Amino acid sequence: MKVLLTGNQGYLGTVMSPMLTAAGHDVTGLDTGLFADCVLGKRDDDAPTLHVDLRDVTVDMLDGFDAVIHLAALSNDPLGALAPDLTHDINHRASTRLARLAKNAGVSRFLYASTCSVYGAAGDGLVSEDAPLRPLTPYAVSKVRVEDDLAALASGDFVPVFLRNATAFGFSPRLRADIVLNNLVGHALLTGRITVMSDGTPWRPLVHARDIAAAFITCLEAPADVVRSRAYNIGTELNNVRVSQIADAVADAVPAATVDITGETGADARSYRVDFSRARDELSFRAKWTVADGAAELAREYAVRMLTDAGFATRFVRLARLELLRAGGLVDETMRPVGRLAETR
Ligand SMILES: NC(=O)c1ccc[n+]([C@@H]2O[C@H](COP(=O)([O-])OP(=O)(O)OC[C@H]3O[C@@H](n4cnc5c(N)ncnc54)[C@H](O)[C@@H]3O)[C@@H](O)[C@H]2O)c1
Repeated sequence: MKVLLTGNQGYLGTVMSPMLTAAGHDVTGLDTGLFADCVLGKRDDDAPTLHVDLRDVTVDMLDGFDAVIHLAALSNDPLGALAPDLTHDINHRASTRLARLAKNAGVSRFLYASTCSVYGAAGDGLVSEDAPLRPLTPYAVSKVRVEDDLAALASGDFVPVFLRNATAFGFSPRLRADIVLNNLVGHALLTGRITVMSDGTPWRPLVHARDIAAAFITCLEAPADVVRSRAYNIGTELNNVRVSQIADAVADAVPAATVDITGETGADARSYRVDFSRARDELSFRAKWTVADGAAELAREYAVRMLTDAGFATRFVRLARLELLRAGGLVDETMRPVGRLAETR
């Protein structure tokens, strides 16, 4: 299929793009390149990429594509809190607009990167796709709104699918240090400590970046009548883990590091566990990577690619990176690249 992959220069897009190509799809990217040069180690070539802001896409740019995989976003809760209006403009309005344009251009499938954080505080039981959505942050609210808008656009010829991903982990050349496993492995290697601020009991559903990519490929190729306007939790119950278990997996991967559970942040409203059976039953999709495998992979890649303190604290932390781009005048108030950043993507 001819696929437009938005956010192809992000953490997940950098892993997904070559996997799509290997699966026989013809990939074009679309990304403003906010993190284009934030690569740990050797930089591989990106697919041909339209350096266009999501908000500026026109219908002719979407002509000829069979599918859009929509990853581009101000991705994660701290970013949403930094700029709630921009989060609304980019993550919600521009996403809905993109889907409408895609439908008008005759694109038949639209895969949307949603998140399990749409469930908000869900208590101790397993949450399935039919659970009430109680998003707690502007980021999670934007995901729910887009799902609603896309569902309203669904038709015989236009098939939106919502992939509610668990929190990602695992190596990507465009590394992210602001997600829990990637963060703890990095600190373990750089400081010899694995520090957990909560009491270690909160549940986190985790999924490897490569399993997310595999799930998108599955949804791209699944029969339209199965996946039309359907939400799928993406992950595995095996990776519904307590924060203390994540810390233990990191300690196994980095034996020189010691675990310190401080308990200083107290109760955690984001604790939840997720039921992933729908994707298994309807699509035969199974996430393969365990947290232990991911911790070992990260420790290996960080060491080989010589991760440093400076890189870990800024280049690979989305909030810090965007604040730096703003302070340096490399993005404008609307987060559109200007100057050197616009020239070097
Ligand atoms: N990483 C996770 O744990 C996780 C979990 C669940 C869902 N998701 C979702 O998956 C998607 C990808 O996540 P990621 O971790 O790769 O994020 P990321 O921040 O690493 O990448 C996002 C990409 O989008 C681009 N982008 C941002 N605003 C843009 C705009 N206005 N126009 C064009 N491009 C723009 C950025 O330059 C970046 O390359 C996001 O929608 C995110 O919400 C991620």
